[in-house]
Amino acid sequence: MGIAIQNMFDGIARRYDFLNHFLSAGRDRAWRRKAAGCLQGGGSLRVLDLCGGTGDFWRTWNDLQTPHGAAPAQATEAKPMGIIADFSLGMLLEARKKFYAPVPEGKGLPPMDQVLPGNGPALVRMDALKPCFKEGSFDAVLCAYGMRNLDSIVSGIDEIARLLKPGGMFITLEFFRPTTVFTRFFYNGLAPLSIPFLGWFFSSRRQAYAYLVESIRGFKSVGEYRDCFRHKGFRDVSVIPCDFGISHIVTAVKG
Ligand SMILES: C[S@@+](CC[C@H](N)C(=O)[O-])C[C@H]1O[C@@H](n2cnc3c(N)ncnc32)[C@H](O)[C@@H]1O
Repeated sequence: MGIAIQNMFDGIARRYDFLNHFLSAGRDRAWRRKAAGCLQGGGSLRVLDLCGGTGDFWRTWNDLQTPHGAAPAQATEAKPMGIIADFSLGMLLEARKKFYAPVPEGKGLPPMDQVLPGNGPALVRMDALKPCFKEGSFDAVLCAYGMRNLDSIVSGIDEIARLLKPGGMFITLEFFRPTTVFTRFFYNGLAPLSIPFLGWFFSSRRQAYAYLVESIRGFKSVGEYRDCFRHKGFRDVSVIPCDFGISHIVTAVKG
């Protein structure tokens, strides 16, 4: 399943951001801002954006640390240590376009193996279920719309717990199985009719967008997801619905 998902994201990577904003009528930006705002602590934090894709979640968080209008020196003084990790090379290549300007000779973007922290986030190709970082490496792990794709949510949570320092925060932004009248209407009625068609129309990838809807309907409810973290020993697990529960933020602190 992992390889199929990886290939699917490679296939939609170039149109991914556009369709994200289009299908959510731009609301995904506000949801990311709200989720990123849950992480306090400033620029010195070590933050991993897991299943980070094209890097929008990390970028949103980073932008909140360097407010507009800050003097350049101020903005770079406490540069956040960021890593965007994903197993789709196609998605990471799109992230690279956002964070790294072409090399001065204008011969294209820096090679992936030179994309290291300093000028922007490090981009790391990695399976979330087999992370290449040591225990307790991060103050915070972010994951937007990635957990739903993992082969095993339990193993995913175990790895996240391993990567976090004690007291570190995990922030999920996700679509969950609908449980209210409104979200059932949205995900069981409206979405299956419209989203695969729009995905086909704009990216010729009907299957990928049909998967998007199916994976939401087959995923855990937000209550079940919250309980997984409690059972794994996380504390202060809280759930914040966005736009009547179309999307949810779940924050949890490693105990
Ligand atoms: C829906 S996209 C979300 C991307 C990004 N976080 C965002 O907010 O737009 C899901 C991402 O998870 C990645 N992904 C899914 N399963 C993964 C796994 N096992 N390991 C690493 N990345 C994975 C996909 O390649 C894809 O880029």
